[in-house]
Amino acid sequence: MQFNCYMPTKVIFGAGRLGELANLEMPGKKALILITCGNSMRRLGYLNRVQELLSVNGIDSVVFGKILPNPIEQHVLEAASLARKEKCDFIIGLGGGSAIDSAKATAIMVNNGEHTYWDYIKGKAEIKNKVLPIIAIPTTAGTGTETDPWTVITNTNTNEKIGFGCDQTFPLFSIVDPELTLSVPAPFTAYQGMDALFHAVEGYLSLKAQPISDLFALDSILRIATFLPKAVQNGADLQAREQVLWASTQGGIVESLSSCISEHSLEHALSAFFPELPHGAGLVALSVPYFSKILELNRDRVAKRYMNMAKAMGEPGANPEEFIVAIQKIIKSIGLSNLALSAWGVSRDDAEKLAENSFLAMGGLYNMDPVRLTKQDAIEILKAAIF
Ligand SMILES: [Fe+2]
Repeated sequence: MQFNCYMPTKVIFGAGRLGELANLEMPGKKALILITCGNSMRRLGYLNRVQELLSVNGIDSVVFGKILPNPIEQHVLEAASLARKEKCDFIIGLGGGSAIDSAKATAIMVNNGEHTYWDYIKGKAEIKNKVLPIIAIPTTAGTGTETDPWTVITNTNTNEKIGFGCDQTFPLFSIVDPELTLSVPAPFTAYQGMDALFHAVEGYLSLKAQPISDLFALDSILRIATFLPKAVQNGADLQAREQVLWASTQGGIVESLSSCISEHSLEHALSAFFPELPHGAGLVALSVPYFSKILELNRDRVAKRYMNMAKAMGEPGANPEEFIVAIQKIIKSIGLSNLALSAWGVSRDDAEKLAENSFLAMGGLYNMDPVRLTKQDAIEILKAAIF
């Protein structure tokens, strides 16, 4: 057995703990706060609150508020230039994955502007100068980005949506406060919660899985299966929100210690071409055809792990097919049985182009699959997922 176990982010978890921003030791004097363009951080009062708490702590802040739900490279470059102009010495991502991922990418670019962001993630240039410290404050439960180094940014010129990360892009600390997730509407609670589920599932099946990631993955799967339906049914249920958020944070740890697999490559291809499609919705649509195909291709290889996951999801765990049944059950219990990718304009004619993109942009994750998938397999999965 050989593995690296590195998870340097300090997690400050619990209801009401955002308030501690007023007295936590900060990594600088002036923060650039990244939020999405949707106005929700202002409308809900979260931005104001964060700025007030920082100010009590003696920290000045400026805001970059243009981040898109599928964040793009151009905005990362704009945010980095604002940070340089305003002399910000650390970056805060406040919101969902898009704000936090953009905070990580911006933290790289502030002192490394001599190349484009795409040059770094394509390995054409090396990050030589200091990456600014990153603080993550998630307001959704799904991405796990608060406990992983990954940042997913889209290049609109090439339609590539690519994940990147290094030791310096782990957040220094993350304030993970379930009260901030109470306002997420039911469909997004469902999509995001399923994203968290698949981080854990994929990390459990990945060739990079290790003993510690396995523990976090199975526990995350159990908590999502138990509490996501409750959080979707009653968004004000703080206990359910807390459990789902911790499951998601654990999913981030799984992504750090293990890795996602090609279900995420396929989804990134979908949302690179159809940016309105929520990431979790794409994963839900792909999931049953995808995990059925993996089982069909090499039952012996994955049977035990499928049974363990089925058990964590409340099934007896007697055969691997129960895991597929468990996924179908949770999709039904959160009201997504009728989710159709065609509602976002995806058609079966796109399958070949999407499969190709998934190998080109995120081919690395195919190497983590427990079973080797060909382009033809990917096309078949996509065709079965698209209706
Ligand atoms: Fe994801």
